[in-house]
Amino acid sequence: MFGFDVMLRPIPEMKKFPMRTAFITGTAGFIGFNLAKDLLAHGFKIVGYDGFTDYYDVKMKRARHAELQASSNHFHPVEGMLEDVDALSAAYHDANPDIVVHLAAQAGVRYSLENPQSYVSSNIIGTFNLMELTRQSKPDHFLFSSSSSVYGGNEDVPFTEIQRCDSPMSIYAATKKATEEMTHAYAHLHHIPTTGFRFFTVYGPWIRPDLALTKFTKAILAGDPIDIYNNGDMERDFTHVNDIVRGIRLLIDVPPKMPDERDGDTVLEIDTLSRVAPHRVVNIGAGQPVRLLDFIDRIEQELGIEAKRNYMPMQPGDVHRTHASIDLLKELTGFESQIKLEDGVREFVAWYKKHGVAYNG
Ligand SMILES: NC(=O)c1ccc[n+]([C@@H]2O[C@H](COP(=O)([O-])OP(=O)(O)OC[C@H]3O[C@@H](n4cnc5c(N)ncnc54)[C@H](O)[C@@H]3O)[C@@H](O)[C@H]2O)c1
Repeated sequence: MFGFDVMLRPIPEMKKFPMRTAFITGTAGFIGFNLAKDLLAHGFKIVGYDGFTDYYDVKMKRARHAELQASSNHFHPVEGMLEDVDALSAAYHDANPDIVVHLAAQAGVRYSLENPQSYVSSNIIGTFNLMELTRQSKPDHFLFSSSSSVYGGNEDVPFTEIQRCDSPMSIYAATKKATEEMTHAYAHLHHIPTTGFRFFTVYGPWIRPDLALTKFTKAILAGDPIDIYNNGDMERDFTHVNDIVRGIRLLIDVPPKMPDERDGDTVLEIDTLSRVAPHRVVNIGAGQPVRLLDFIDRIEQELGIEAKRNYMPMQPGDVHRTHASIDLLKELTGFESQIKLEDGVREFVAWYKKHGVAYNG
């Protein structure tokens, strides 16, 4: 098909990009696993640090790490707790990372009523231990997960990052807000470019079994009733995990600049970029809230089974609605949410029937 001269033409030399190392905490978890998969596919070496806590079925966490190890020899798992300073320090210094993405945490609003201590330990002490290491050996960018729960009972939607959010309604939210403040202090004192993400109700394959999508799917398939809080009068900005990890990947390459390196008036009006530190927080959400009852209708349609609905009062610590403004994320990275809820729920139900059913919800 090609002439001989074309075949003899020298192959242009491949441009070589140095491989960046990301130290990710929480890679055996729902979001960390999906992020590691995505970053491996985008040419990163990953050191994945996770303590395999027993908050939910540890088999699921082991299966996620096994899948990452099978998919790439650039994935290097390390098992350890954030509270174990020696183990964390050895893993961090061995990795000598370019980027840190801190996702390991005690998650979940409802469990924080039962076991608040675990939130203080993982989210406050654990984050502090990691921050201390970044001070000793600075990454190019430190990124960490906060949560939409920091908006507490704000009713002024969509939630913008510049809104006041100093009225947390659970210890979970309070610890997440505390990590925003602690990382700000370190960014200021030690000049570590830092970005925090406020995630909005994440769903998708390998979702945590304690979250509504798994619980509802499991109960509907079993013919058991589902508990619907606040009589269904709730809205959530459900965000597919692929959108979340793309948002993180795009933000990795937009580290906040030091205050004295900014050229003129580059701070956007909607930006949380600190005036005294290379630090900002950014919402990552779909920006399209969905009524809880519509969400349940969608699961029923995919399963072809009607749910037995058990209407309940509002749970303490829970919020009425969440709705992300994603203007800042768009402005910084060009991000648009790409996955429609109906496609995401269809994909989840197929995944759950094949794989998810093996793990205890
Ligand atoms: N899933 C969501 O909808 C959502 C929403 C907002 C914020 N977030 C935040 O995103 C992050 C990831 O959440 P997820 O849904 O993947 O949760 P997850 O529970 O699936 O993952 C967290 C991982 O961290 C590990 N871990 C917990 N405490 C640890 C400790 N002290 N030391 C070492 N490892 C520890 C766990 O073993 C787990 O694998 C968390 O910070 C969470 O607060 C999640």
